[in-house]
Amino acid sequence: MHQVRLLPHNITFPADGQETVLQAALNAGVAFPNRCQVGACAMCLCRKRSGEIRYQLEPMLTENEQAEGWIFACQAMARSDLVLQLD
Ligand code: FES
Repeated sequence: MHQVRLLPHNITFPADGQETVLQAALNAGVAFPNRCQVGACAMCLCRKRSGEIRYQLEPMLTENEQAEGWIFACQAMARSDLVLQLD
C-alpha cells in the first residue's frame, strides 16, 4: 500500500497500485476533481512532485508536460508513495 499526499491542502490517502489514483482518492472520500474518468476531459490533471506512477493506457501528454510532472489521476496507478499538486 502506498500513501498519496495531495497538495496544497496536505490531504493523504492510501493507494494500492491496482486502482487509479483518482479511484483511490474517491474511495477515501477525497473530493478529487474529475469528470470523464477515461483520460479525455483533463479535469483530473495534476502535477507529480515526487514518486512513481504507471499507466495502463498512456494519456495524451507532450514530452514537455510529462517532464513537468503532469499526470492524469484517472489513468495513473501508484508505484510508490506520491506527492501530487492540485492547482
Ligand atoms: S477525469 Fe477526465 S481526464 Fe481524468
